[in-house]
Amino acid sequence: MSKKKLKVGLIFGGRSGEHEVSLNSARSVYAAMDKNKYDVTLIGISKTGQWLLSGDAILALTGETDQPSAMLLPDPTEKALLQVSATDASRSVTPITELDVVFPVMHGTFGEDGAIQGLFEMADLAYVGSGVVGSAVGMDKTIFKAVMVANNIPVLPYVSTTRTAIKADIDAVMAQITATLQYPMFIKPANLGSSVGISKADDAAALRKGLLEAARWDRRVVVEQGIDAREVEVSVLGNDEPIASIAGEIAPKRDFYDYEAKYVTDDSELIIPAKLDADQMDAIRALAVDAYKAIDAAGLSRVDFLLDKETGELWINEINTLPGFTDISMYPKLWGATGISYSDLIDKLIEFALARKQDRDVTVRSFDVPEA
Ligand SMILES: Nc1ncnc2c1ncn2[C@@H]1O[C@H](COP(=O)(O)OP(=O)(O)O)[C@@H](O)[C@H]1O
Ligand SMILES: [Mg+2]
Repeated sequence: MSKKKLKVGLIFGGRSGEHEVSLNSARSVYAAMDKNKYDVTLIGISKTGQWLLSGDAILALTGETDQPSAMLLPDPTEKALLQVSATDASRSVTPITELDVVFPVMHGTFGEDGAIQGLFEMADLAYVGSGVVGSAVGMDKTIFKAVMVANNIPVLPYVSTTRTAIKADIDAVMAQITATLQYPMFIKPANLGSSVGISKADDAAALRKGLLEAARWDRRVVVEQGIDAREVEVSVLGNDEPIASIAGEIAPKRDFYDYEAKYVTDDSELIIPAKLDADQMDAIRALAVDAYKAIDAAGLSRVDFLLDKETGELWINEINTLPGFTDISMYPKLWGATGISYSDLIDKLIEFALARKQDRDVTVRSFDVPEA
Protein backbone atom coordinates (compact mmCIF):
# COMPACT_ATOMS: atom_id res chain seq x y z
CA MET A 1 0.00 0.00 0.00
CA SER A 2 1.36 3.39 -0.87
CA LYS A 3 1.60 6.00 1.82
CA LYS A 4 0.04 9.36 1.18
CA LYS A 5 2.59 11.69 -0.33
CA LEU A 6 3.63 14.71 1.66
CA LYS A 7 2.72 17.98 -0.04
CA VAL A 8 5.79 20.17 -0.08
CA GLY A 9 6.00 23.75 -1.29
CA LEU A 10 9.48 24.56 -2.52
CA ILE A 11 9.94 28.32 -2.44
CA PHE A 12 12.93 30.02 -4.03
CA GLY A 13 14.27 33.21 -5.59
CA GLY A 14 13.03 36.33 -3.89
CA ARG A 15 13.95 39.96 -3.41
CA SER A 16 17.50 39.27 -2.41
CA GLY A 17 21.02 39.86 -3.65
CA GLU A 18 21.31 36.08 -3.46
CA HIS A 19 18.38 35.43 -5.82
CA GLU A 20 20.48 33.52 -8.37
CA VAL A 21 22.23 31.52 -5.68
CA SER A 22 18.81 30.49 -4.42
CA LEU A 23 17.77 29.27 -7.88
CA ASN A 24 20.82 27.03 -8.01
CA SER A 25 20.12 25.66 -4.54
CA ALA A 26 16.44 25.07 -5.41
CA ARG A 27 17.30 23.23 -8.62
CA SER A 28 19.54 20.83 -6.70
CA VAL A 29 17.01 20.31 -3.90
CA TYR A 30 14.16 19.70 -6.33
CA ALA A 31 16.20 17.21 -8.36
CA ALA A 32 17.12 15.25 -5.24
CA MET A 33 13.64 15.13 -3.67
CA ASP A 34 12.10 11.67 -3.80
CA LYS A 35 8.99 12.17 -5.96
CA ASN A 36 7.48 8.93 -4.61
CA LYS A 37 7.48 10.50 -1.17
CA TYR A 38 6.86 14.13 -1.96
CA ASP A 39 4.33 15.91 -4.05
CA VAL A 40 6.28 19.08 -4.78
CA THR A 41 4.80 22.43 -5.74
CA LEU A 42 7.34 24.89 -7.06
CA ILE A 43 6.85 28.48 -6.05
CA GLY A 44 9.28 31.01 -7.42
CA ILE A 45 9.45 34.55 -6.11
CA SER A 46 10.64 37.02 -8.72
CA LYS A 47 13.13 39.80 -8.05
CA THR A 48 10.22 42.19 -7.78
CA GLY A 49 8.55 39.96 -5.19
CA GLN A 50 5.87 38.37 -7.35
CA TRP A 51 4.99 34.77 -6.44
CA LEU A 52 4.83 32.54 -9.51
CA LEU A 53 3.51 29.07 -9.78
CA SER A 54 4.06 26.20 -12.15
CA GLY A 55 6.08 23.13 -12.86
CA ASP A 56 8.39 25.47 -14.65
CA ALA A 57 8.70 28.11 -11.97
CA ILE A 58 12.47 27.80 -11.95
CA LEU A 59 12.47 28.51 -15.66
CA ALA A 60 9.90 31.23 -15.22
CA LEU A 61 12.20 33.17 -12.96
CA THR A 62 15.09 33.01 -15.35
CA GLY A 63 13.18 33.22 -18.63
CA GLU A 64 10.28 35.17 -20.00
CA THR A 65 7.49 32.59 -19.66
CA ASP A 66 4.09 33.79 -18.50
CA GLN A 67 3.28 32.08 -15.21
CA PRO A 68 0.16 32.27 -13.08
CA SER A 69 0.81 34.02 -9.82
CA ALA A 70 0.38 32.35 -6.49
CA MET A 71 -0.58 33.56 -3.07
CA LEU A 72 -0.20 32.28 0.44
CA LEU A 73 -2.58 33.89 2.89
CA PRO A 74 -1.60 34.61 6.49
CA ASP A 75 -5.00 33.21 7.50
CA PRO A 76 -4.42 29.82 9.20
CA THR A 77 -7.91 28.56 8.37
CA GLU A 78 -6.99 28.89 4.71
CA LYS A 79 -4.22 26.30 4.42
CA ALA A 80 -4.21 26.22 0.65
CA LEU A 81 -1.93 27.85 -1.80
CA LEU A 82 -4.04 30.02 -4.05
CA GLN A 83 -3.69 30.71 -7.72
CA VAL A 84 -4.51 34.19 -8.86
CA SER A 85 -5.92 34.54 -12.33
CA ALA A 86 -5.33 37.90 -13.86
CA THR A 87 -7.39 37.20 -16.98
CA ASP A 88 -10.38 39.12 -15.72
CA ALA A 89 -10.41 42.50 -14.12
CA SER A 90 -11.76 41.07 -10.88
CA ARG A 91 -8.71 38.79 -10.40
CA SER A 92 -10.27 35.50 -9.40
CA VAL A 93 -8.55 33.35 -6.82
CA THR A 94 -8.66 29.54 -6.81
CA PRO A 95 -7.29 27.26 -4.11
CA ILE A 96 -4.95 24.82 -5.83
CA THR A 97 -3.27 22.69 -3.22
CA GLU A 98 -2.90 22.32 0.50
CA LEU A 99 0.64 22.27 1.77
CA ASP A 100 1.90 20.00 4.56
CA VAL A 101 5.24 21.74 4.75
CA VAL A 102 7.16 24.47 2.97
CA PHE A 103 10.85 24.54 2.23
CA PRO A 104 12.19 28.05 1.68
CA VAL A 105 15.34 27.48 -0.35
CA MET A 106 16.14 31.15 -0.13
CA HIS A 107 19.17 33.10 0.94
CA GLY A 108 19.52 36.62 2.24
CA THR A 109 16.87 39.28 2.67
CA PHE A 110 13.22 38.25 3.07
CA GLY A 111 14.04 34.52 2.85
CA GLU A 112 16.69 33.99 5.48
CA ASP A 113 16.00 36.87 7.84
CA GLY A 114 12.70 35.91 9.46
CA ALA A 115 10.46 37.82 7.05
CA ILE A 116 8.99 34.85 5.18
CA GLN A 117 9.17 32.78 8.36
CA GLY A 118 6.75 35.29 9.87
CA LEU A 119 4.30 34.62 7.07
CA PHE A 120 4.61 30.85 7.64
CA GLU A 121 3.94 31.35 11.34
CA MET A 122 0.89 33.46 10.62
CA ALA A 123 -0.37 30.82 8.20
CA ASP A 124 0.36 28.10 10.78
CA LEU A 125 2.43 26.10 8.32
CA ALA A 126 5.28 23.69 9.00
CA TYR A 127 8.47 24.98 7.39
CA VAL A 128 12.09 23.97 7.04
CA GLY A 129 14.67 25.89 9.02
CA SER A 130 14.81 28.44 11.78
CA GLY A 131 11.91 30.48 13.07
CA VAL A 132 11.58 34.24 13.09
CA VAL A 133 14.07 34.96 15.85
CA GLY A 134 16.76 32.46 14.83
CA SER A 135 16.59 33.66 11.25
CA ALA A 136 16.68 37.34 12.17
CA VAL A 137 19.55 37.00 14.64
CA GLY A 138 21.52 34.80 12.22
CA MET A 139 21.10 37.45 9.54
CA ASP A 140 21.91 40.52 11.57
CA LYS A 141 25.66 40.75 12.12
CA THR A 142 25.32 43.37 14.88
CA ILE A 143 22.71 41.58 16.99
CA PHE A 144 24.37 38.23 16.29
CA LYS A 145 27.63 39.43 17.83
CA ALA A 146 25.86 40.76 20.91
CA VAL A 147 24.17 37.37 21.39
CA MET A 148 27.51 35.57 21.01
CA VAL A 149 29.15 37.87 23.57
CA ALA A 150 26.29 37.20 26.00
CA ASN A 151 26.89 33.47 25.59
CA ASN A 152 30.67 33.64 25.97
CA ILE A 153 31.26 32.57 22.38
CA PRO A 154 34.32 34.43 21.06
CA VAL A 155 33.78 37.10 18.38
CA LEU A 156 36.44 39.43 17.00
CA PRO A 157 36.48 42.97 18.45
CA TYR A 158 33.98 45.14 16.60
CA VAL A 159 32.27 48.51 16.53
CA SER A 160 28.74 48.97 15.30
CA THR A 161 27.48 52.19 13.81
CA THR A 162 24.63 53.54 11.74
CA ARG A 163 24.03 55.25 8.42
CA THR A 164 22.67 58.19 10.40
CA ALA A 165 25.91 58.56 12.37
CA ILE A 166 28.04 58.13 9.23
CA LYS A 167 26.04 60.79 7.40
CA ALA A 168 26.09 63.18 10.34
CA ASP A 169 29.80 63.03 11.17
CA ILE A 170 31.93 60.38 9.48
CA ASP A 171 35.11 61.73 11.10
CA ALA A 172 33.67 61.15 14.57
CA VAL A 173 32.64 57.62 13.59
CA MET A 174 36.14 56.94 12.27
CA ALA A 175 37.71 58.30 15.45
CA GLN A 176 35.54 55.98 17.53
CA ILE A 177 36.51 53.01 15.35
CA THR A 178 40.24 53.68 15.32
CA ALA A 179 40.22 54.08 19.11
CA THR A 180 39.13 50.42 19.36
CA LEU A 181 40.37 48.60 16.25
CA GLN A 182 43.53 48.44 14.18
CA TYR A 183 43.97 48.09 10.43
CA PRO A 184 43.13 45.95 8.58
CA MET A 185 39.41 46.15 9.32
CA PHE A 186 36.38 44.63 7.68
CA ILE A 187 33.40 46.87 7.08
CA LYS A 188 30.06 45.13 6.67
CA PRO A 189 26.42 46.10 6.23
CA ALA A 190 24.58 44.48 9.18
CA ASN A 191 22.06 42.56 7.11
CA LEU A 192 23.42 41.20 3.86
CA GLY A 193 25.13 38.06 2.70
CA SER A 194 27.38 36.85 -0.08
CA SER A 195 29.97 39.48 0.83
CA VAL A 196 27.87 42.21 -0.85
CA GLY A 197 28.83 45.68 0.42
CA ILE A 198 31.73 44.26 2.44
CA SER A 199 35.21 45.72 2.14
CA LYS A 200 38.58 45.42 3.76
CA ALA A 201 40.33 48.60 4.85
CA ASP A 202 44.09 48.90 5.27
CA ASP A 203 44.05 52.63 5.95
CA ALA A 204 41.85 55.60 6.83
CA ALA A 205 40.96 56.37 3.22
CA ALA A 206 39.71 52.84 2.67
CA LEU A 207 37.82 52.89 5.98
CA ARG A 208 36.02 56.09 4.95
CA LYS A 209 35.14 54.65 1.55
CA GLY A 210 34.07 51.33 3.08
CA LEU A 211 31.76 53.01 5.62
CA LEU A 212 30.04 55.00 2.88
CA GLU A 213 29.70 51.90 0.72
CA ALA A 214 28.34 49.67 3.50
CA ALA A 215 25.87 52.38 4.53
CA ARG A 216 24.34 52.21 1.04
CA TRP A 217 23.36 48.60 1.73
CA ASP A 218 21.94 48.85 5.21
CA ARG A 219 20.93 51.32 7.89
CA ARG A 220 23.45 49.75 10.25
CA VAL A 221 27.09 48.92 9.70
CA VAL A 222 29.54 46.82 11.65
CA VAL A 223 33.31 47.26 11.55
CA GLU A 224 35.43 44.34 12.67
CA GLN A 225 39.04 43.71 13.52
CA GLY A 226 40.57 42.06 10.44
CA ILE A 227 42.89 39.13 10.98
CA ASP A 228 44.88 36.78 8.81
CA ALA A 229 42.60 33.82 9.15
CA ARG A 230 41.77 30.36 7.98
CA GLU A 231 38.06 29.95 7.31
CA VAL A 232 36.56 26.89 8.93
CA GLU A 233 32.89 25.91 8.66
CA VAL A 234 30.65 23.41 10.43
CA SER A 235 27.20 22.18 9.42
CA VAL A 236 24.61 21.85 12.17
CA LEU A 237 21.37 19.90 11.89
CA GLY A 238 18.40 19.46 14.22
CA ASN A 239 16.00 21.28 16.51
CA ASP A 240 16.49 21.30 20.28
CA GLU A 241 19.24 18.66 20.22
CA PRO A 242 21.27 19.59 17.17
CA ILE A 243 24.30 17.70 15.90
CA ALA A 244 27.42 19.06 14.23
CA SER A 245 29.20 17.70 11.16
CA ILE A 246 32.95 17.50 10.89
CA ALA A 247 34.49 20.86 10.02
CA GLY A 248 35.65 21.86 6.56
CA GLU A 249 37.88 24.65 5.38
CA ILE A 250 37.64 27.15 2.56
CA ALA A 251 40.83 28.35 0.98
CA PRO A 252 39.88 31.40 -1.12
CA LYS A 253 42.32 32.16 -3.94
CA ARG A 254 41.56 35.87 -3.59
CA ASP A 255 42.36 38.35 -0.81
CA PHE A 256 39.19 37.34 1.02
CA TYR A 257 36.12 35.27 0.33
CA ASP A 258 34.28 38.00 -1.57
CA TYR A 259 31.38 37.75 -4.02
CA GLU A 260 33.77 37.08 -6.92
CA ALA A 261 35.43 34.22 -5.11
CA LYS A 262 32.09 32.80 -4.03
CA TYR A 263 30.21 32.83 -7.31
CA VAL A 264 32.19 34.22 -10.24
CA THR A 265 35.61 32.66 -10.28
CA ASP A 266 34.40 29.93 -7.91
CA ASP A 267 37.95 28.63 -7.60
CA SER A 268 38.11 28.55 -3.81
CA GLU A 269 39.20 25.19 -2.56
CA LEU A 270 37.03 23.21 -0.12
CA ILE A 271 39.12 21.09 2.21
CA ILE A 272 37.08 18.40 3.98
CA PRO A 273 37.83 17.62 6.73
CA ALA A 274 39.62 20.82 7.74
CA LYS A 275 43.20 20.24 8.80
CA LEU A 276 42.73 20.53 12.55
CA ASP A 277 44.02 18.45 15.41
CA ALA A 278 41.46 16.35 17.27
CA ASP A 279 41.07 18.85 20.13
CA GLN A 280 40.51 21.75 17.78
CA MET A 281 38.01 19.71 15.78
CA ASP A 282 36.04 18.82 18.92
CA ALA A 283 36.14 22.40 20.20
CA ILE A 284 34.88 23.86 16.95
CA ARG A 285 32.03 21.37 16.64
CA ALA A 286 30.94 22.06 20.22
CA LEU A 287 31.10 25.84 19.66
CA ALA A 288 29.02 25.47 16.50
CA VAL A 289 26.27 23.73 18.47
CA ASP A 290 26.47 26.33 21.26
CA ALA A 291 26.09 29.17 18.78
CA TYR A 292 23.20 27.41 17.04
CA LYS A 293 21.36 27.00 20.31
CA ALA A 294 22.18 30.56 21.39
CA ILE A 295 20.30 32.07 18.45
CA ASP A 296 17.49 29.47 18.68
CA ALA A 297 18.22 28.11 15.21
CA ALA A 298 16.24 25.11 13.97
CA GLY A 299 16.51 22.62 11.13
CA LEU A 300 19.85 23.63 9.72
CA SER A 301 22.63 26.20 9.80
CA ARG A 302 26.19 26.51 8.66
CA VAL A 303 28.39 28.02 11.33
CA ASP A 304 31.46 29.86 10.02
CA PHE A 305 34.62 30.45 12.02
CA LEU A 306 37.82 32.39 11.57
CA LEU A 307 40.94 30.68 12.86
CA ASP A 308 43.81 33.11 13.44
CA LYS A 309 46.81 31.86 11.45
CA GLU A 310 49.25 33.45 13.89
CA THR A 311 47.78 32.71 17.30
CA GLY A 312 45.54 29.74 16.55
CA GLU A 313 42.65 31.56 18.27
CA LEU A 314 39.18 30.65 17.13
CA TRP A 315 36.46 33.25 16.52
CA ILE A 316 32.92 32.76 15.35
CA ASN A 317 32.27 34.79 12.20
CA GLU A 318 28.64 34.15 11.38
CA ILE A 319 25.76 31.72 11.17
CA ASN A 320 23.94 31.14 7.91
CA THR A 321 20.51 29.77 8.74
CA LEU A 322 19.79 28.91 5.10
CA PRO A 323 23.22 28.18 3.69
CA GLY A 324 23.98 27.48 0.04
CA PHE A 325 22.35 24.17 -0.72
CA THR A 326 23.44 22.95 -4.14
CA ASP A 327 24.73 19.39 -4.08
CA ILE A 328 28.28 20.76 -4.21
CA SER A 329 27.79 23.40 -1.50
CA MET A 330 29.73 23.23 1.76
CA TYR A 331 26.67 22.52 3.94
CA PRO A 332 25.63 19.22 2.31
CA LYS A 333 29.22 18.28 1.48
CA LEU A 334 30.15 18.39 5.16
CA TRP A 335 27.21 16.11 5.93
CA GLY A 336 28.23 13.81 3.10
CA ALA A 337 31.65 13.48 4.72
CA THR A 338 29.99 12.89 8.11
CA GLY A 339 27.72 10.15 6.76
CA ILE A 340 24.44 11.78 5.68
CA SER A 341 23.70 11.87 1.95
CA TYR A 342 22.16 14.86 0.18
CA SER A 343 18.73 13.26 -0.24
CA ASP A 344 18.72 11.93 3.34
CA LEU A 345 19.47 15.45 4.45
CA ILE A 346 16.38 16.75 2.66
CA ASP A 347 14.25 14.03 4.31
CA LYS A 348 15.64 14.93 7.72
CA LEU A 349 15.04 18.65 7.23
CA ILE A 350 11.40 17.97 6.37
CA GLU A 351 11.06 15.70 9.43
CA PHE A 352 12.54 18.43 11.62
CA ALA A 353 10.13 20.95 10.11
CA LEU A 354 7.16 18.72 10.99
CA ALA A 355 8.54 18.04 14.48
CA ARG A 356 8.99 21.75 15.11
CA LYS A 357 5.42 22.38 14.00
CA GLN A 358 4.17 19.72 16.44
CA ASP A 359 6.17 21.39 19.13
CA ARG A 360 4.54 24.72 18.28
CA ASP A 361 1.10 23.14 18.31
CA VAL A 362 1.33 22.15 21.98
CA THR A 363 2.07 25.75 22.95
CA VAL A 364 -0.88 27.27 24.78
CA ARG A 365 -2.06 30.31 22.85
CA SER A 366 -5.14 31.49 24.64
CA PHE A 367 -5.58 32.35 28.23
CA ASP A 368 -8.99 32.33 29.80
CA VAL A 369 -9.10 35.14 32.26
CA PRO A 370 -10.36 33.67 35.55
CA GLU A 371 -13.51 35.29 36.81
CA ALA A 372 -13.03 37.56 39.74
N1 LIG B 1 37.28 40.05 10.65
C1 LIG B 1 37.71 39.43 9.56
N2 LIG B 1 39.02 39.10 9.41
C2 LIG B 1 39.44 38.49 8.28
N3 LIG B 1 38.65 38.15 7.23
C3 LIG B 1 37.34 38.45 7.33
C4 LIG B 1 36.80 39.09 8.50
N4 LIG B 1 35.49 39.26 8.30
C5 LIG B 1 35.20 38.77 7.08
N5 LIG B 1 36.32 38.29 6.47
C6 LIG B 1 36.35 37.72 5.11
O1 LIG B 1 35.24 38.24 4.37
C7 LIG B 1 34.34 37.19 3.97
C8 LIG B 1 32.90 37.65 4.04
O2 LIG B 1 32.55 38.06 5.34
P1 LIG B 1 31.27 37.47 6.10
O3 LIG B 1 31.18 38.14 7.41
O4 LIG B 1 31.35 36.00 6.10
O5 LIG B 1 30.08 38.00 5.20
P2 LIG B 1 28.91 37.26 4.38
O6 LIG B 1 27.74 37.23 5.29
O7 LIG B 1 28.67 38.16 3.23
O8 LIG B 1 29.40 35.90 4.00
C9 LIG B 1 34.70 36.04 4.90
O9 LIG B 1 34.37 34.80 4.34
C10 LIG B 1 36.21 36.24 5.07
O10 LIG B 1 36.91 35.80 3.89
MG1 LIG C 1 30.27 34.48 5.15
